Amino acid sequence: MKRILSLAIIATMVASPVFASGKGDVEAGKKVFKKCVACHTVDGSTKKKSGPSLDNLYGRTAGTLEGFKFSKAMIAAGAEGWVWTPETFEAYLVNPRKAIPKNKMAFAGLKKEEDIINVEAYLLTFSPDFVMGEGDEDDSDDKDEDKKSD
Ligand code: HEC
Repeated sequence: MKRILSLAIIATMVASPVFASGKGDVEAGKKVFKKCVACHTVDGSTKKKSGPSLDNLYGRTAGTLEGFKFSKAMIAAGAEGWVWTPETFEAYLVNPRKAIPKNKMAFAGLKKEEDIINVEAYLLTFSPDFVMGEGDEDDSDDKDEDKKSD
């Protein structure tokens, strides 16, 4: 579980070291989402499309939305601890096939970091229960470095 999360973080860093998670522009993201609407719905739509609904995406474990037939790869990623947060979303959207090999989303990814953080912001508006920072792996508490060295 830790391994897959670190891979996601590494993937994010390799693609772009400065993702401004949570700082995207919702209106611009709405336009970027036009690239996703062929396969995904949001806003409570029950219309069946080839991809899962992205309502309440953040905080959800990959491959677990009820009623959607995910690939084995996506289900396995979820079982190993892949939860959708802005960070994992970024890692996935940079290069979906590389982030979760053999997942069945037929989409090459978004080339521009800007587009990713904007669509991320747009989708955040459809995840009203998600709190930023929740679900992050926090390894900092065991290394309580005290800067007062004198
Ligand atoms: C050609 C269709 C298609 C397009 C275009 C597409 N997706 Fe997907 N997406 C899918 C499919 C199919 C899956 C399920 C993958 C699996 O089960 O392996 C998926 C899965 C996902 C998931 C995981 C959802 C979950 O519940 O685990 C996210 C997040 C996602 N897509 C985001 C996006 C975004 C954002 C865009 C636009 C920038 C996009 N997708 C464009 C088909 C598409």
